[in-house]
Amino acid sequence: MIVSQQMLEYSKTSSWIRKMFEEGARLKAQYGKENVFDFSLGNPDLVPPRHVIDTMVSLALSKATPHGYMPNAGYPHVRQKISEYVSKIYEVVLKPEDIVMSCGAGGGMNVVLKSILNPEDEVIAIAPYFVEYRFYCENHGGKFVSIECGKDFLPDLDKIRQAITEKTKAIIINSPNNPTGRVYPENIFFGLRDLLAEHPDVLVIADEPYRRLVYDDVKIPSVLKIVPRSVVVTSASKDLSLAGERIGYIAAGPGVSEKEKFIDALILATRILGFVNAPSLMQKVLGECIESGIDVNIYKRRRDAFRSILDDIGLFYVPPEGAFYLFVKSPIEDDVEFCKVLLNEKILAVPGIGFGYKGYVRFAYCVDETVIQGAAPGLKRAVALLKA
Ligand SMILES: Cc1ncc(COP(=O)(O)O)c(C=O)c1O
Repeated sequence: MIVSQQMLEYSKTSSWIRKMFEEGARLKAQYGKENVFDFSLGNPDLVPPRHVIDTMVSLALSKATPHGYMPNAGYPHVRQKISEYVSKIYEVVLKPEDIVMSCGAGGGMNVVLKSILNPEDEVIAIAPYFVEYRFYCENHGGKFVSIECGKDFLPDLDKIRQAITEKTKAIIINSPNNPTGRVYPENIFFGLRDLLAEHPDVLVIADEPYRRLVYDDVKIPSVLKIVPRSVVVTSASKDLSLAGERIGYIAAGPGVSEKEKFIDALILATRILGFVNAPSLMQKVLGECIESGIDVNIYKRRRDAFRSILDDIGLFYVPPEGAFYLFVKSPIEDDVEFCKVLLNEKILAVPGIGFGYKGYVRFAYCVDETVIQGAAPGLKRAVALLKA
């Protein structure tokens, strides 16, 4: 067998998100795109802001834009701009050397984990979690430790405390959260800071690609300020609708110990994982457009439209404050079965089990409002059938 045991195992159990996405493609080919209601993938449908596209074009055409290799950490002037932006937004003082450009947040997560994990080191994540975290940890010999969230789908500090062992190397947090859309309040960060005071070798990895997708003036606390031994991993995938362009960055917090060695490790990991560097043109675009963003009110309107449909049907969900997901309680215990019933109505959602959390399903509402409204009758019928 040419394929490794691990990959064979992974492909059997891997992503429900992808599975549903592929099922959606099949249904669309069979019934026509307009008759399928696909909420499976967090793939932003909004076009990037005009300013971003214009910058992309003018930088691509400029004779002054080189297309070759640059330092593995990224262009110095881009790291400078990003460090100024992060310093302002997170209210900390970071230098350009604290920033390493990455191939999206996914690339950045792998670079951080590659840089810190010894074999069997443990990484704690809080369910429900972004499914790729397990693979990212295991990619680098780490052991993935999943703990359940606490009340209201927020991290439970006692559970985190109990899960920490002498092998724990990192805690991954994700706010605004995929799949719940919850934003962690400040007290969670203060609690983490106090907890980590007892564990000087544990790093907080804050995966924050949805940081700028928040609604109703919800404020996101600064993890870098409150938990100085933390690192932010983020990207332009969601807030600039550039998911396919693979651009993001890692920002190392002011309290990361042996910072220089850590940054050197990030840079080397970027190289030897085969990324070499983040995409050259997109680095420059991000440097120019870091203050831009898509119109979050569009997602807010969709969220509100979806919520009123769920309220009308009487389905419980976690009220999302950010990102573009609704995590909805399945009307029956078996979330996979609920998704199958939804499929009969040509509605695609992802079972909670795909996020390490049974009994719920995730709907990604980064789709046109007509898709949301179009799904309402089928959703109603599916729930009525299951409740009958
Ligand atoms: C929580 C979370 N982290 C990371 C990623 C990866 O994003 P990127 O496209 O920046 O690699 C995603 C993508 O959906 C996500 O939801």
